[in-house]
Amino acid sequence: MELIDGKAIAAQLVAEVGAGVAALRSRSGIVPGLAVVLVGDDPASGIYVRRKLAATAAAGIRSFEYRLAVDTPQAALLVLIDELNANADVHGILVQLPLPAQIDPLLVLDRIAPEKDVDGFHPVNVGRLSSGGGGLVPCTPLGCMKLLDRVIDDYHGLNAVVIGKSNIVGKPVALLLLEREATVTVTHIHTRGLPDIVRAADILVVAAGSPGLVRGDWVKPGAVVIDVGINRIIGPDGRPIIVGDSVMDALGHARAVTPVPGGVGPMTIACLLENTLRAARSIIGEE
Ligand code: GUN
Repeated sequence: MELIDGKAIAAQLVAEVGAGVAALRSRSGIVPGLAVVLVGDDPASGIYVRRKLAATAAAGIRSFEYRLAVDTPQAALLVLIDELNANADVHGILVQLPLPAQIDPLLVLDRIAPEKDVDGFHPVNVGRLSSGGGGLVPCTPLGCMKLLDRVIDDYHGLNAVVIGKSNIVGKPVALLLLEREATVTVTHIHTRGLPDIVRAADILVVAAGSPGLVRGDWVKPGAVVIDVGINRIIGPDGRPIIVGDSVMDALGHARAVTPVPGGVGPMTIACLLENTLRAARSIIGEE
């Protein structure tokens, strides 16, 4: 079984984006800028935001950080988004999810200018993805596809099974697989007979947020498994560890598997940088 080294592939992509940022800067004087908005103090979101900000610096992207109190009114967040939409130094806007209960995430995502929506969550970008592309694509699904492309040349007719139906991963990755002409089945926590459906998969993308859900005997010999899960559990020595949604040790007969950590996670961040560079190019009329 091959381990797909997301960390190394992401580092390569970050370097490529960095070169693209430097080239853009020298031909136009424009430095791509990313605004990251975090509302509240969810520890996991705090870690993700810190990683995203560190990566922007590594690629030469300017970052603008906004940390708002957990009780921030929805109207105040919408005012900030309007300001960022109008700010010419900002080419990408990311509002970290989940948001506190008083804020409707769909209303917030709708407010972000589609050309600055580097998360690809705005209805215009969701629509573009579902009708054949051209818009900004969500970062985690984009990262999954870049990893799959390393080991799969031709998707035509392959059986792809997605576990998870979220707007952030499950639905968009299913659309991207369909675009490559795989035969796609989207499943979720209520799907009946899940193990047998998974056994037919040449490609398995698991984004269920359920540690150890996928057992070794669910996976077809020779399949490629992309594990999007990031689950914090208590390990055998009593310390917290991060594990995916599949039982990695039991997947020896798979053809290739992404490790957790070090698989999809670093790709999500690298794709965010790539989307920010794309957004900047598009806003200044280059693409
Ligand atoms: N929360 C979990 N994943 C994501 C993501 O990709 N983008 C944002 N904005 N929030 C998230």
